[in-house]
Amino acid sequence: METLTVLLQSPDVMALASLAAGVLFVLGLKGLSHPATARQGNLFAMVGMALAMAVVLLHPLMSAYSFIIFGLLIGAAIGIPLALKTPLTALPQLVAGFHSFIGLAAALVAVGMYLRQIPFNLMETKAALEMALGTAIGMVTFSGSVLAALKLQGWVSGTPWGWSGRHVLNLALGIALIACTIWFTATFNPLPLALIFILATIMGVTLVAPIGGADMPVVVSMLNSYSGWAAAATGFMLEQPLLIITGALVGASGAILSYIMCAAMHRSFLSVILGGFGNAESVTPAAGQGPAQVVKQAGAEDAAFIIAQAERVIIVPGYGMAVAQAQHAVKELFNLLASKNIETTFAIHPVAGRMPGHMNVLLAEADIPYDAVHELEDINPRFKETDVVLVLGANDVVNPAAQTTPGSPIYGMPVLEAWKAKQVYVVKRSHRPGYAGVDNPLFGMENCALVLGDAKAVVENITHALKSS
Ligand code: TAP
Repeated sequence: METLTVLLQSPDVMALASLAAGVLFVLGLKGLSHPATARQGNLFAMVGMALAMAVVLLHPLMSAYSFIIFGLLIGAAIGIPLALKTPLTALPQLVAGFHSFIGLAAALVAVGMYLRQIPFNLMETKAALEMALGTAIGMVTFSGSVLAALKLQGWVSGTPWGWSGRHVLNLALGIALIACTIWFTATFNPLPLALIFILATIMGVTLVAPIGGADMPVVVSMLNSYSGWAAAATGFMLEQPLLIITGALVGASGAILSYIMCAAMHRSFLSVILGGFGNAESVTPAAGQGPAQVVKQAGAEDAAFIIAQAERVIIVPGYGMAVAQAQHAVKELFNLLASKNIETTFAIHPVAGRMPGHMNVLLAEADIPYDAVHELEDINPRFKETDVVLVLGANDVVNPAAQTTPGSPIYGMPVLEAWKAKQVYVVKRSHRPGYAGVDNPLFGMENCALVLGDAKAVVENITHALKSS
């Protein structure tokens, strides 16, 4: 047993295990890039994380086991019920909450490391720089993530809180942070570190506050990236290469995801990082305050009657399909339409639902074939040749105001051009707006009718009506 422990603790075995963990993380990320390989990717990442934890726990210098077990028990007692209870639709705020812990941990490690360095005159400049960066990135991530989680949960207003001069404020905060970092690394004085702590906390709020509504997905992925860099900074402080690798992977993949999302939403990546897209100057009236539109209503039977005569149908799933958990009912409808030789495809918007890939996950769960699921660029040209579009609990992602109303908070965001089809049925429960809180002119169009009701019940009723027709 003792020989085994000595062997496991040998630097070569530790280095090899760390390398294997790093490779497994990369394979995990690669797997997550496609729904078909996502499960396998998750498995790789989990094995990698287990290996990484083993490397840390078996380290010869490790002694505080009781402390770690205590922490694990507290974390598990909070984390497991939270993960079991949280519905898929609330995952973004849970993820934002987790990011805040990573940020806070990085800042607290930095402060802890600093307090351990007393007397301060023995400190090294490199260590001081790591502490300053850990505190700055950590606290920006912490306060930004807390605000994002509160916005996503709806506990504070999700609309962008714009104010003129916010870019000047962010610039001033950035300069002050750099100045305090230089001051701290030159003097090791506690005052600049305390100032970094406070200024970074304020900056997290000023960066996230001006972003809201339909742009929130980009904030979540951006904070994901920040949390990775915070972890990497902690890795430098603790001299833990594995933490540096993991943090850098999370930081880089989060930055790439933010970039992809910005491109998909036609937003400038730089302006996101600098806090807000300029939507403070938005002039669109809030929902219900614009000119009233006449909205037609239809029943599930009416929709079924028209669908029965269609050759091509596109289903646009959105957040409402996730709320109603309608994916299995949708699969039944899909099978029925296929048996009637009605070509049925799914149109997926990159930010439909409340997390990246939300709709893909739900459709995959219901075993809907991948080749029936199309991304925005592929499907948009096809709407004009489509007989019926069934918009299932989606709203912002089919809002033509994104193309027609300059000044709208969603102006410039690419949308699914459902209105180009011959007939559109929008399934939702009420006349309330979508996440961005703006009216949707699609509902008032000549070729559109609302089918009011819970998405699952309406889809089941359509299927039932089609079967009995
Ligand atoms: P939304 O614009 O939020 O619209 C969802 C619609 O579903 C609502 O109009 C709602 O109307 C309806 N609905 C809710 N529950 C329903 C149910 N049980 N049955 C039927 N309908 C139901 O959703 P979307 O079109 O998917 O767009 C997503 C929005 O969320 C975008 O603005 C996006 O930027 C934002 N967002 C996305 C993410 C990611 S990463 N995907 C993260 C954060 C925010 P009723 O209340 O009238 O039923």
